[in-house]
Amino acid sequence: MRRSIIAGVGGALPDRVVTNQELADMMDTSDAWIVERSGIRERRWVDCEMGGSDLALAASQQAVAQAGLSVKDIDCIVFATLSPDYNFPGSACLLQDLLELPGIAALDVRNQCSGFIYSLSVADAWIRCGQYDCVLVVGAEVHSTGLDKTTRGRDVTCLFGDGAGAVLLTAGDLGEVGERGLLSTHLHADGKYAKALWVEAPGSRLYPDRLNQQMLAEGKHYTQMQGRRVFSHAIKYLPQVILQGLTANGLSLDDMDLLVPHQANLRINEAAAKVLGISMDKVYSNIERYGNTTAASIPLALRDAEEEGRIHRGDLLVLASFGAGFTWASAVLRW
Ligand code: COA
Repeated sequence: MRRSIIAGVGGALPDRVVTNQELADMMDTSDAWIVERSGIRERRWVDCEMGGSDLALAASQQAVAQAGLSVKDIDCIVFATLSPDYNFPGSACLLQDLLELPGIAALDVRNQCSGFIYSLSVADAWIRCGQYDCVLVVGAEVHSTGLDKTTRGRDVTCLFGDGAGAVLLTAGDLGEVGERGLLSTHLHADGKYAKALWVEAPGSRLYPDRLNQQMLAEGKHYTQMQGRRVFSHAIKYLPQVILQGLTANGLSLDDMDLLVPHQANLRINEAAAKVLGISMDKVYSNIERYGNTTAASIPLALRDAEEEGRIHRGDLLVLASFGAGFTWASAVLRW
């Protein structure tokens, strides 16, 4: 029986650090407000023309090197992003070209903050059914070029940052890898809330123009978010989907060594931990450094957690996310 193993993990961030104070110089906000509401102290923004695919390249190379494999071993790319380099073609095709892997499959996944776990689920299914042996799963975002840097956009702009994370998923035989590998994924969505967190324009259904001066003046090309609505649904569904994943494997919270949640907001993760009755010692966080990097946040968190010695071979990890769509998801894995 085949199982997917995370053989390597990598991450990449733009060099430019943007502190809360820098945001306060651009708009009516403050370091204290942002830290209290979100736990974020700084984030990274690109400072030149750079797409998510460029950041993804560096993250992918690190993941491949860590796995002790070669880029040539990759036989499929799954790329999660809500900020693709272009409307089309997808960023997976751009990354495939940067990696110089013509001909291999390249798929974009558009499930926002849950994009990485959705991608992991697709890659895992392909590996288990024998279609591919080595799948590169990437999450990458360049938010900064799409943020309203005036007071009008302060609720959203203070939260988001740029970055990329990647894992290399390889096939292992259950007999060889023992307990190691991806045990399950659980995916959910509720499109009723599509407009609670969205970017309206440009959109093909906007008639007769996808984008016009009026839409630009109204800021419809920027993210619109009903913050409290997102918050209340996140703290309801995150605990549910975490428990769903553990229960499906006959496991409990006591078996979990570390929860690696999507880094949307420290308060959301603290509230979810409280609902679950677990200590924040069991919840990984790096949001203070990067803000919300959407599809990149979980692989970046895995990369950092491993570098910091927070995860070890054999540990039971639960990955969990909630975000636009609404979408929410979890993955249970033995590192
Ligand atoms: N700086 C200062 N004030 C701000 C601000 C900022 N960056 N952003 C919003 N405010 C103001 C609002 O305008 C509002 O002012 P008003 O009372 O005069 O109208 C006030 O702060 C309170 O706004 P509110 O939206 O009620 O605050 P909140 O306590 O709900 O916190 C969020 C706002 C966005 C931090 C919070 O709702 C949240 O974290 N939601 C989830 C967002 C998220 O994680 N999204 C990504 C999910 S993947």
